[in-house]
Amino acid sequence: MKIVIIGTGYVGLVTGACLADLGNEVICYDIDKKKIKQLQSSDAPIYEPGLKRILRNLNISKKANTAAAMRKNKVLELGSITFTSDPEEAIRNGKIIFITVGTPQQKDGNVDLSFVKSAARTIGKFLNGYAVIVNKSTVPVGTARLVKKIICGYHNKNFDVVSNPEFLKEGNAIKDFFNPERIIIGAESKKAKRIINNLYQPFSCPILNTSLETSEMIKYASNAFLATKISFINEIANVCEKVGADIKGVSQGMGMDSRIGESFLKAGLGYGGSCFPKDIKALHNIALSNNYRFKLLKAVIQVNNDQRKLLAKKVKKMLGGLKNKKICLWGLSFKPNTDDFRESAAIDLIKLFQKEGAAISAYDPKVNYEEFTNKNNFRNKINFHQDKYAAIKNRHALVIVTEWSEFKKADLGKIKKLLKKPVIIDGRNIYEIGKMRELGFRYLSVGR
Ligand code: UDX
Repeated sequence: MKIVIIGTGYVGLVTGACLADLGNEVICYDIDKKKIKQLQSSDAPIYEPGLKRILRNLNISKKANTAAAMRKNKVLELGSITFTSDPEEAIRNGKIIFITVGTPQQKDGNVDLSFVKSAARTIGKFLNGYAVIVNKSTVPVGTARLVKKIICGYHNKNFDVVSNPEFLKEGNAIKDFFNPERIIIGAESKKAKRIINNLYQPFSCPILNTSLETSEMIKYASNAFLATKISFINEIANVCEKVGADIKGVSQGMGMDSRIGESFLKAGLGYGGSCFPKDIKALHNIALSNNYRFKLLKAVIQVNNDQRKLLAKKVKKMLGGLKNKKICLWGLSFKPNTDDFRESAAIDLIKLFQKEGAAISAYDPKVNYEEFTNKNNFRNKINFHQDKYAAIKNRHALVIVTEWSEFKKADLGKIKKLLKKPVIIDGRNIYEIGKMRELGFRYLSVGR
């Protein structure tokens, strides 16, 4: 069964590679020719643990078709993946066509559906024979029907549309794909429902079959709930600071209640990334355009924005002003194990620090510094480093922005020697307070 993936971003690429790894014949299409060329030479355009390995194995399968190579990996026996920027080659004879294009945020906070619509038109143009069109992009309720309407505009098309939201986390996407907690399939037609349920047959998790609208809403509601958990724990952390409680212990104690659960209770600099900030605003706006004011979500967004400002205030207070102060940031990505810096706390912090006249140096193990600079409108140049210790030399303070494990394991004695003043403001609570005091640091974190 030929599976087509339209859009090779995070979701598309991971879904395509993993479905091929499971033994399917996958063809990935993207309008970005440069990206396709890179993928054809088995190089991943994003950093995602495990992805390169899967792509490498799949590509070997194309070249080395010997019995020995096949035995080496089950993947080599069955799966295949092809990358193309030719829409006709991709879509013709496709049986399951995934739409995994971006749904960015417009200036007004609404969802920009232009890529989804354009994908639907491309499918409409080249579709021959029956196919199930599966929407995996995060889209407002009603989009599956819109896709259906667009494709119906082309003559003699035989297809069904399904909503199948993805719940992959960047940095853990491959693991998440192979170990899902649930699979949601929103479908109207029995045939489409059967085909997509079959596709997911190798997974042992529950599959929930719903209507198109319910499936689309599950994705937004899930992300909004997780973001609410984060803003909630951040507000608790802020109160902890005032009353002398420790947020780490509070989170631990709360998480022991299975009704609450221990995940997404890490206080810090709030949520970033390509999903939460965009999806929470989108859901807020979807409610508003349907005459409902989602008061809770408005507060969730506000708390998240304020969390970064609060940390910047702490740094300012600790240093007695920011003018001409030299500050180093460790971590630029929105979370560890990814090179993605979209909506990362680092961007807001750098802007706040620079506005007040501070000079910034930075280190991140994976972020592309040139891209980070080009995509954000920073007031002044940032002094980027390839070595985390070089980045802190003669700085007035070190700010921990992302909890990369190499920061947790860093040589604290060395940090103290290199810094101009032994000041660390930790936005992710990665160090022990007692140890930091013992070592003579002036150390501030969040909610402790
Ligand atoms: C999220 C959802 O988890 C995933 O299901 C969906 O498909 C896409 O959006 P992702 O954006 O990759 O995934 O990252 P996630 O690990 O969920 O973290 C989001 C943000 O929340 C990060 O900035 C992270 O630092 C922050 N976070 C997470 C916290 O501040 N505290 C926590 O306890 C958990």
